[in-house]
Amino acid sequence: MRAVLLGLGAVGLSLLTLLERTDSPCVPGLNIDIAGVADSSGYLVGKQVIGVHDLVKAKRESSLSFLPGFIEGGRARELIETAEADVVVDCLPTDYSDCSESRECMFTSLKAGRHYVTASKAVMALHMKEALEKAEGNGVLLKFGATVGGGTPFIDFGSRCICPGTVTSLRGVLNGTSNYILTRMAEGLTMQEALSEARQRGIAEADPSNDLSGRDSAAKIVILANWLCGTSLTLHQVRTRGIETLSSGEISEAGRRGKVIKLIASYRSVATVSPEEIDINDRINVSGSLNALSYFTGSGDSFTLSGEGAGGESTARAVLRDLAAVHLEAGPRRTH
Ligand SMILES: NC(=O)c1ccc[n+]([C@@H]2O[C@H](COP(=O)([O-])OP(=O)(O)OC[C@H]3O[C@@H](n4cnc5c(N)ncnc54)[C@H](OP(=O)(O)O)[C@@H]3O)[C@@H](O)[C@H]2O)c1
Repeated sequence: MRAVLLGLGAVGLSLLTLLERTDSPCVPGLNIDIAGVADSSGYLVGKQVIGVHDLVKAKRESSLSFLPGFIEGGRARELIETAEADVVVDCLPTDYSDCSESRECMFTSLKAGRHYVTASKAVMALHMKEALEKAEGNGVLLKFGATVGGGTPFIDFGSRCICPGTVTSLRGVLNGTSNYILTRMAEGLTMQEALSEARQRGIAEADPSNDLSGRDSAAKIVILANWLCGTSLTLHQVRTRGIETLSSGEISEAGRRGKVIKLIASYRSVATVSPEEIDINDRINVSGSLNALSYFTGSGDSFTLSGEGAGGESTARAVLRDLAAVHLEAGPRRTH
């Protein structure tokens, strides 16, 4: 399978590193060759396959621009149009106010008949319905398992292990950064102390506003509800409140009553994100940077999955799972 990779940051570079390290394919017959890569400075496209080792070395040690054939200032969209590829992998930044780059790349790719695997939450939370329709209309696959949960396959579990079309509501802890901060505040730290510790440990980004404001959780519940419950939500319809104004006093007071405060994302007729007091025995009471999600079906069944959330390497593994799914579902006719 020939792939174009957009974005060589925490996720994109981890994906290349996984490909570099992996001697044997994760599913039989799957070999992923890199046909082109883009970062913010331009792109590289190869008639032949581009060596993953050279790419990783160049990106880590200096810049892609030192590699022969690099097109300085070239746009990702041009790369998608020129490269001979079966699949485009989007590891571009998430920008909720303007995801035009990801949107343009996704629709260009789907229109050109290339499968699309994306880690970008914003573009899926804002344009999911039209993107899925475009993919179906063009006979290509759109995979987005890396947008929610990274290390834990929340989307795949919901769509493959629960009878399709039966999930009616969802409730979970979907943001590792805010969960880490709430966990540490319950242990006595102030929000500022918990946040700086999360930054030191690589759990919080330099700008954690999407995590603390609840927007990241809102994007994830939109993606989950649209995919598993058949809704057509967009991000703007989620009633969202973050954890920014919570005080250590409120959290310790909850603790004294045997409760914990968690940032809960839920869908049940409407989608909401808000700090909520829950019982310590609640199945979604996970600590640190873990995530958890409960799925409820119309027939009264419920399932809960918990595990690692985001992180460059976990998310890259989710991208790799989606590439394997493309290989298996599209078959050798469409990927080689
Ligand atoms: N990191 C995580 O744990 C995680 C988890 C789940 C989902 N995600 C999602 O995965 C995506 C990637 O995240 P990340 O953490 O890898 O981001 P990142 O570290 O900020 O990397 C973004 C990459 O995109 C490149 N880029 C920026 N603008 C570009 C443009 N116009 N054209 C081509 N390339 C461009 C950057 O280029 P330069 O290298 O030149 O700056 C960089 O290589 C995001 O949408 C994020 O929400 C991330």
